[in-house]
Amino acid sequence: MQTTKVSAAVRERLLRSARHAMKNAYAPFSKFRVGAAILTSKDQIFAGCNVENSSYGMTNCAERTAIFSAVAKDGPKLEIRAVAVVNDHGVPCSPCGACRQVIYEFGPDAIIFYEGENGPKQSLITDLLPEGFRLK
Ligand code: THU
Repeated sequence: MQTTKVSAAVRERLLRSARHAMKNAYAPFSKFRVGAAILTSKDQIFAGCNVENSSYGMTNCAERTAIFSAVAKDGPKLEIRAVAVVNDHGVPCSPCGACRQVIYEFGPDAIIFYEGENGPKQSLITDLLPEGFRLK
């Protein structure tokens, strides 16, 4: 996979998709709605939201929902170029540790757009997850 370059226009499209998906979040427990969108190497966009559960640990984050939807729809050869994450509180929210590992599986060079401490931020997945685990 080559180095990630994502134009401002595509970044905005990703963020818009993430915001749209966020509206479908099932978050009755935390009341914290999250939306995510991924850009694939085929320039497709898949979006997802967080889906919580009464058994809290079963909650699926927005990022993983988006990634699993992409695999379900388009198969296991998924390559992620970029991920956008938004939340309905306008607070800092980078992908959790579990999601970082799942993003890394399909996008070791991915760039992540998210809300940082001082506003919108972008980081490479390898900066968010140094030494990510790989079996192959
Ligand atoms: N959450 C996400 O969906 N993505 C993140 O990047 C951070 C956290 C969700 C999980 C849970 O439903 C809620 O936010 C509060 O933790």
